[in-house]
Amino acid sequence: MNTILDLHDVSKIYKSGDRTLKVLDSISFSIDTGSTVSIVGPSGSGKTTLLGLCAGLDRSTNGTVELHGKRLNGLNEDQLAAVRNQYVGFIFQNFQLLPTLTALENVMVPMELRGEKNIKSRALDLLDKVGLAERGHHYPTQLSGGEQQRVSLARAFSNQPQILFADEPTGNLDAETSEKVVKLLFDLNREAGTTLVVVTHDLELAAKTQRIIRIKGGKIVEAS
Ligand SMILES: Nc1ncnc2c1ncn2[C@@H]1O[C@H](COP(=O)(O)OP(=O)(O)OP(=O)(O)O)[C@@H](O)[C@H]1O
Ligand SMILES: [Mg+2]
Repeated sequence: MNTILDLHDVSKIYKSGDRTLKVLDSISFSIDTGSTVSIVGPSGSGKTTLLGLCAGLDRSTNGTVELHGKRLNGLNEDQLAAVRNQYVGFIFQNFQLLPTLTALENVMVPMELRGEKNIKSRALDLLDKVGLAERGHHYPTQLSGGEQQRVSLARAFSNQPQILFADEPTGNLDAETSEKVVKLLFDLNREAGTTLVVVTHDLELAAKTQRIIRIKGGKIVEAS
């Protein structure tokens, strides 16, 4: 399959009372399997919303989203969850680790959901990759922002996703850790052929991806 993600005329409108807010306006693009793309734009321009629609975490108001040949619009919650579990890794802007689980358990969750084997040792390997081998027994509140971000990265890798969506993956990291995380993202792309879609304010990171999609006020203003 050459195209892993295809958006056609996608809009997202939020309604509160009698007021409506058009957050995404007629967005269309497709992304090649195995490629790397960054999405850039000012704060509030709709980047996180767009990523959520692409990953099947949220639904568009209009238009179609096709992921790995599956049209997400017609799917129910369970079917969407199954698609996410099978194909998608996600690194959230605010980490979204489960607070009642340790770092190690957080990394194990997606593998457990897939009914895989040897998950503890594989989760430990992943934590080791992000430099947190010693912190597996800690809960999210006992970790710094950057450490939580790295746990969420290890978790995103744990189901060997076909496509990884990362929302500001380096936003909370110091320069040195950022560099490590970026290297991990691109290693995964190179070694496993994982398609990488990153939202970032980091122009150095954006310059490393094959394409840049720039959005402003919910519209694409430039795409390479
Ligand atoms: N659930 C919601 N209800 C109403 N408005 C929302 C909702 N979620 C997001 N918005 C609005 O949609 C717009 C786009 O938000 P989004 O989080 O996608 O921006 P962003 O580009 O990711 O910004 P940032 O760079 O600050 O993370 C914002 O104006 C935001 O307030
Ligand atoms: Mg955002």
